[in-house]
Amino acid sequence: MDQYAVLGFPIGHSKSPVIHQQFAQQTNQSLAYKAIEVKPEAFDKTIADFFKASGKGVNCTVPLKELAFEKVDSLTERAKFSGAVNTIKLLDDGSLLGDNTDGVGLLSDLCEHLDLSLDGKRILVLGAGGAARGILGPLLEVKPSCLCLANRTVSKAQTMQQLFAPIGDIQSSSYEALAGQQFDLIINATSASLTGDLPPLAKGLLAINGVCYDLAYSQQPTAFVRWGEEQGASLSIDGLGMLVEQAAHAFNVWRDVMPDTLAIRASLRS
Ligand code: ATR
Repeated sequence: MDQYAVLGFPIGHSKSPVIHQQFAQQTNQSLAYKAIEVKPEAFDKTIADFFKASGKGVNCTVPLKELAFEKVDSLTERAKFSGAVNTIKLLDDGSLLGDNTDGVGLLSDLCEHLDLSLDGKRILVLGAGGAARGILGPLLEVKPSCLCLANRTVSKAQTMQQLFAPIGDIQSSSYEALAGQQFDLIINATSASLTGDLPPLAKGLLAINGVCYDLAYSQQPTAFVRWGEEQGASLSIDGLGMLVEQAAHAFNVWRDVMPDTLAIRASLRS
């Protein structure tokens, strides 16, 4: 049976095995998918062993995405700009292809499932780490009227601005300098939610009918989701939908069939 896995550290609470097993059932694909805890120093050996033993593909999550980027033999265009790989596929010639489905997963959630139109909208991304880098390329593609990147360490936002200059215009900013501006969509790509923290956001940043989206997700509303609700967002939501959608796109890369995500989205929410 074809073997797939998600690699990360820690990995105990990963929802990926449940999601992919559901996709396999739904699309009548015969495959196994498990979670493997892998520390960065063991990444190379785990990959080598896995693909030697009928492994066909892996997902990589924190803290392995950048290592996966270095490890693969070739990269998709969207992975090149993101600097990180969350999906590896064994190709017929035995080489490893690296892809990044995070950005397209976010767009699927925002545009198809939440039915938002981002064309001409003002978008603010908070944070300038790996999570932000993974979504900036796809966000530029939807042609917002403004894509602003704010970070505590402003130099990192400026570096990101330069990196993406060949494909589109990103404004970099400190949190303080955002005061007085308004955005239709604010995306939290900081790791602050993981510790229950919130970036220092001024009141009034969210436009009327604006939407807040946290890339992180948790059982209880994250600090950022609560902030969005306090600011009167028409929708303030976490990244569970993105998790499912990036998984669906990874499944499609591996098996050439796009699973339907409605059932698993509903069951994970409940
Ligand atoms: P990831 O790969 O998940 O994006 P990362 O590269 O460690 O993780 O980046 C984390 C991001 O969250 C950074 O942009 C970080 O800001 P700095 O670059 O200034 O460190 C941001 N971040 C983390 N905790 C934060 C907090 N409490 N308030 C604001 N930003 C925070």
